Amino acid sequence: MTITAVKGFNDILPGESQVWRLIEETAWRVFSSYGYAEIRLPIVEKTELFLRSIGETTDIVEKEMYSFADRHGDGLTLRPEGTASAVRAYIEHKLYARPVTRLFYRGPMFRYERPQKGRYRQFYQIGAEALGEAHPRMDAEAIEMLMRFFGELGLPGAVLNVNSLGCPECRPVYKERLIKFLDGVKDRLCENCRRRLGTNPLRALDCKGHGCIEATGAAPPITDALCAGCKDHFDRVRSALHERGTEAAVNHRMVRGLDYYTKTTFEITSTGLGAQNAVAAGGRYDGLVADLGGPATPCFGFAVGMERLALLLNEAGIKGEAPPMSAFIALGGEAAKTGVGLVRRWREAGVPVVEVLGDGGLKSGMKKADRLGAAYAIILGEDELKAGVVTVKDMKTAEQRQVKWDEAAGHIK
Ligand code: HAM
Repeated sequence: MTITAVKGFNDILPGESQVWRLIEETAWRVFSSYGYAEIRLPIVEKTELFLRSIGETTDIVEKEMYSFADRHGDGLTLRPEGTASAVRAYIEHKLYARPVTRLFYRGPMFRYERPQKGRYRQFYQIGAEALGEAHPRMDAEAIEMLMRFFGELGLPGAVLNVNSLGCPECRPVYKERLIKFLDGVKDRLCENCRRRLGTNPLRALDCKGHGCIEATGAAPPITDALCAGCKDHFDRVRSALHERGTEAAVNHRMVRGLDYYTKTTFEITSTGLGAQNAVAAGGRYDGLVADLGGPATPCFGFAVGMERLALLLNEAGIKGEAPPMSAFIALGGEAAKTGVGLVRRWREAGVPVVEVLGDGGLKSGMKKADRLGAAYAIILGEDELKAGVVTVKDMKTAEQRQVKWDEAAGHIK
């Protein structure tokens, strides 16, 4: 029996990986232009890191983490997200010497979720975190950067939703208000939401269960309960976004699945994704660095789901480009020998070349070139060898031309 991949863990095949590369290169270019620098973080962290950052009563921690004891008995977890690791690294390496530290990262994350379109157990994120800045314009700048990234990729139909989750001062007041409301509709809530009513009532607003959506329709909006500081911050974020030409809709049901958020939260959705419709999400987390033992540091960040972004770009016909490949066909031993050096020079000049191996002659060589998907065949036979040229044949148009060895790379390019 053949062995297949684990459910929810995907291969990204050669034809698909081009768009991934386009995404990564565009992120690198756009994020660098805002002063973000790449950080490479480990995939495995101590389990405790996620318990203390994401929150013990979240779905991720309660149900979705790949946690295990290593041979030494230490509790480890395959990271379900990148923010906790970025903050851990920020504290561990004292990256707080700068007034603001802007970091970005990419890589696989792991969550034991039910696999479906746009939702996997191993998925990739590109994330960005700005640590050290409390100003509302920080929030707007990061969101603008993300929208520019989507714009440069050509992603159609991205919609920005924002909300504020308040701070340790006003959120408890709202929680009390919400618990009172939810108590009145308790019978209509799903078991999970009922169980978390006392500990994490906000989750009920985000529950996808039919009963919960209906029951919480008239729940008091959190934006009505914000303290003066949080309300001012939220107003200023929205006007800073407006100044930057980024329109945002307020969605007070958007509470996010991680507990570290304070004040601004946001999601970017696209209709092309069905139920799993957030292609990127993030927000402010002003308490997390201190909670994990670092100095009080206001932060803002987000992460993009790469599979979801790749899916949307594919649907929009954006696939990324691979440079056209050429197939080199040598006819005879002498040509093959001379060909070794020629192919090396063309490759060095940036022309991808695959050598057609074997002594099957021109007809068989051309067949192989075709099956390789080559855009050009470069043929070196006896006549060409004598004249110091190669025949370059366009595989689509069948047009062919003799070109000097040194000019072949330029001709193909
Ligand atoms: P998140 O909302 O959990 O936030 O994930 C961000 C994005 O990752 C989602 O919007 C989605 O596109 C993608 N994603 C999440 N789970 C899956 C999955 N199972 N399969 C495929 N894609 C998925 C965070 O992770 C925060 N760390 C974001 C952040 C950074 N907040 C502040 N800084």
